[in-house]
Amino acid sequence: MKKSIRTFLKRPTKDNSNRSANPAIIRASTILFDSMQELYAHEKKIKKNQKVTHYSYGRYGSSTTIQLENILKELEEAFHVFLTGTGFGGVALAIMSLCRPGDEILVSDNVYGPTKEISEKLLKEFNVNAIFYDPDSFNDLKNKVTKRTKLILVENPGSNTFEFQDLSKIVKFAKRKKIFTFLDNTWGTPLYLKPLKLGFDMSFSSATKYFSGHSDAMGGSLAVNKKVFKQVMFFYKLSGYRMSADEAYLIIRGLRTLDTRLKKHYENTKIVINFLKKQKKIKEILYPYKPSSKNFKLWKKYYSGATGLLSVVIKSKKKSSVIKFVNSLELFGIGYSWGGFESLAILQELRSKKKDEYIQGRNYFRFKNDEHIVRLHIGLEDPTDLINDLRRSLRYIK
Ligand SMILES: Cc1ncc(COP(=O)(O)O)c(C=O)c1O
Repeated sequence: MKKSIRTFLKRPTKDNSNRSANPAIIRASTILFDSMQELYAHEKKIKKNQKVTHYSYGRYGSSTTIQLENILKELEEAFHVFLTGTGFGGVALAIMSLCRPGDEILVSDNVYGPTKEISEKLLKEFNVNAIFYDPDSFNDLKNKVTKRTKLILVENPGSNTFEFQDLSKIVKFAKRKKIFTFLDNTWGTPLYLKPLKLGFDMSFSSATKYFSGHSDAMGGSLAVNKKVFKQVMFFYKLSGYRMSADEAYLIIRGLRTLDTRLKKHYENTKIVINFLKKQKKIKEILYPYKPSSKNFKLWKKYYSGATGLLSVVIKSKKKSSVIKFVNSLELFGIGYSWGGFESLAILQELRSKKKDEYIQGRNYFRFKNDEHIVRLHIGLEDPTDLINDLRRSLRYIK
C-alpha cells in the first residue's frame, strides 16, 4: 500500500529485540563480527551503499543513527544521507568534500554567518576562492561563474533577510556548466521542499532546528545524490564527523511530529504577521506573505508550506530602544538557534564588517542607518499571548 510521507514519519522505528515502538539507543565503538570474512563482506556492502543495520565501526554511526539515515533518505528522496554532530558540521562536510586548491566557490550573499566565514576565511587558507553573489540577481550569479567554479552554495530563503531565489534556474545553469550545487534547506525542511528532486546535488538541513524541534539536540543532515556520494563519503570517513546515538534518537522522536508542528508554526506565524503588518514602527516584514511580492511568488513556485522564522525591519533612530523592545518581550526568549517549540527574538547586526568578527554583513541588502533587523521565531504558544507580548513591547521603540 502506498503511504504518504506524513504516515511514514509516524511509523514505529521498531527495536525488534525489545519489542519497543522506538529504536534502542545503541552507543557503540566496537562492533563485533563472527569472522573476518563477515567483517570484509560487511565493509564491501557499505562501500556500495547497500542497506545495512550497523556499520563496521562506531565512528561511522550505530544502528540508531542508521534508522535516522533511513528515515531522512525517504524524506529527502536521496541516494544517501550523512549525519553530523551539528548542523554546521554538515555545511563544512559538503564544502570540504568538494573543493580543492585552485577552485572557486560561488556563495549566496545571504547565507548563515559561519557559512560565510568558512567560505571567505578558512577556504582562503587552502587556496579556494569564495565569491559572493546577490541573491536577488540571477544575472549576478551567472556573471560571477568562471572556469574554476566548483560549487554553488545557496541558502533558501537567506538567513535573516529571507530572499527567495529561482532554484530551478540555478540548477539548470549549474548542470550546463558542470558545477556542483548545494542548498541549505533548514527553513523549509524536506517536507516542504525537496532540493534533490529539483536537481541539487546536496540538500542540507540543520537537524538542530525543526527536525528535533525541542531545542535539546544538535545535528546535521547532508542528503546527496549518486554523483557526489563517493567524494562526500571519502571526506566523511576521514574527518571523523558523526552524530551520537542519543542525538539520533531525539531527532527520530522529533521527526514524528514534524508535519504537525510545522503546520502550527505556520498558522501562528500568519496570525502574528496579521498583527505586525498593521504596526507603524515596523517598516517591513521579511517573510513570504504578500502575494504581489517577488519572494511570495518564488516561495509559492517551489514550496508546499512555510515555517515560523521571519524578520522585521524596525525604523528607529535609537538602536537602544530596539534592544529594549527585544529585552522586554516576556514570551520570546533571547538566544541563538530556532525551530524549537518556543518563540525567540534576536537583534541581528547585519552591517558589521569588522575583521575578526563573524562575517555576516550583507553586501546587497539595502537598509538605511536607522533601520534594524529583529529576527523572530514564532513558536507553538497561543498566538494571542504572543501578540499581546509584542504589542506591549513595541511601545518601547522610539
Ligand atoms: C540556516 C542555517 N544553517 C545552518 C545552521 C547551523 O546549524 P547548527 O546550529 O545545528 O550547527 C544554522 C544555525 O542557526 C542555520 O540557521
